Amino acid sequence: MQCDGSFANMANKRTSLTLLVLVGLLAICDALRCNCTECSTTGYQCVTDGACMASTSSINGQEHRIRVCITRDRLVPPGQPFYCLSAEGLLNTHCCYTDYCNSVSLTAPTVTTRPAEDSGFGPGGSWGLVDLVAVIVGLFLFCVLLLVGIFLFHQHQRTYSHRQRLEVEDPSCDHLYLPKDSTLQDLIFDLSTSGSGSGLPLFVQRTVARTIVLQEIIGKGRFGEVWRGKWRGGDVAVKIFSSREERSWFREAEIYQTIMLRHENILGFIAADNKDNGTWTQLWLVSDYHEHGSLFDYLNRYSVTIEGMIKLALSAASGLAHLHMEILGTQGKPGIAHRDLKSKNILVKKNSVCAIADLGLAVRHESVTDTIDIAPNQRVGTKRYMAPEVLDETINMRHFDSFKCADIYALGLVYWEIARRCNAGGVHEEYQLPYYDLVPSDPSIEEMRKVVCEQKLRPNVPNWWQSYEALRVMGKIMRECWYGNGAARLTALRIKKTLSQLSVQEDIKV
Ligand SMILES: Nc1ncnc2c1ncn2[C@@H]1O[C@H](COP(=O)(O)OP(=O)(O)OP(=O)(O)O)[C@@H](O)[C@H]1O
Ligand SMILES: [Mg+2]
Repeated sequence: MQCDGSFANMANKRTSLTLLVLVGLLAICDALRCNCTECSTTGYQCVTDGACMASTSSINGQEHRIRVCITRDRLVPPGQPFYCLSAEGLLNTHCCYTDYCNSVSLTAPTVTTRPAEDSGFGPGGSWGLVDLVAVIVGLFLFCVLLLVGIFLFHQHQRTYSHRQRLEVEDPSCDHLYLPKDSTLQDLIFDLSTSGSGSGLPLFVQRTVARTIVLQEIIGKGRFGEVWRGKWRGGDVAVKIFSSREERSWFREAEIYQTIMLRHENILGFIAADNKDNGTWTQLWLVSDYHEHGSLFDYLNRYSVTIEGMIKLALSAASGLAHLHMEILGTQGKPGIAHRDLKSKNILVKKNSVCAIADLGLAVRHESVTDTIDIAPNQRVGTKRYMAPEVLDETINMRHFDSFKCADIYALGLVYWEIARRCNAGGVHEEYQLPYYDLVPSDPSIEEMRKVVCEQKLRPNVPNWWQSYEALRVMGKIMRECWYGNGAARLTALRIKKTLSQLSVQEDIKV
């Protein structure tokens, strides 16, 4: 039975019918009658407010047919209710909305047996353990190939850039950047005096450094090796730091490039360069080369005349005085304390005067703010040369002059090393390190502290030095450099003046 407008009209006309009858009629109007295979008690029929459904399935080769009513609330989601869906190969379902419309006979779905290899993992499928392993191995190989590819690409890029740089590094090409016939001295004079007064411009430093040909190793220190190298036929010294010592390299280069630092008694700095050789980074510090090597080497090899002693001592004092001195003005220089002064860190030039080297531990004084720019590296000086206040840690690190006073103490020890080698009246002593008779080689801080601070011992100043004016003056200077109280020590400038007078007295040309 189909509900239509005539039924409603009829209901409207028969106004005598009760509300109950109306509701009953409306209920009947909404009802849908369907075939029902499960409804033996109601004559295989059912009534619903939803849909009639017929479904045929094939289970183990047997066909099953169902015809039922589906209530409206089960027809979800609207438009494609789950109860009305067919399942491929399993179930053919049909929903309809007119009386007994589910009497249609549906054919059972044809079971399309899927080929075994499509059935997935498991004993019946192709995705067995072997296949799984094969897939994993394949993926692994793919990743390895990808990584090798990336690595080779990087190598290629590197070789390419390295080759590019080698072209720049060909010594025959450096004239493209630098005046053809100029020597290092010319370059440094021209460029540093016209520039900031702090050294060669960085691109010149790099060009020079990369066109140096290393010749032979000349020494080894705590931070790396020192080589003699050639640049345009002249000798240069190259200190090569390991990449672990980058901070020391950077700090030393920074200090050497302090404005107005250049002085004939301070090692002439030429260039700093960080050079990547493809495997590691080499850190270079290029400076003037001095064939005599360090003062330590020199004194071990030679004894000196009185004149030679005064020249060495006066030049060392001049270098230290310049380092310590603050020069005011825009082209001025800050005061600098060395903090690792010793005979190994002073070089001897051809004319037998000193050049102070190894500025990696130096500190600079910013007088405007009265602060010290202590580098963040933890390097400490050489224990044997440490002043008493450094050994017992009473030094006032906030006061810049304390560091200068500690340098003066070390300078006094260097003077003692020089004076011992002074040949006066045919007598001179063998070379010895300060405190050689009081502490073992490579002494600990504690061993030094006991001797220097507790026992207050100092190197021996022989009596016979009193017989020679120059040695007497040297002995007096030393003692005044070694006071326990740093502030009581001489200044570098005072020492320089005293030794200048001595050189005049002794008729020495410096
Ligand atoms: N500019 C230079 N010219 C000639 N020889 C040099 C120069 N610089 C260093 N040397 C030589 O190389 C040696 C090693 O120097 P380096 O400063 O690396 O170590 P060190 O002073 O001996 O010890 P430390 O590591 O304690 O400073 C020096 O002792 C010196 O003989
Ligand atoms: Mg050194």
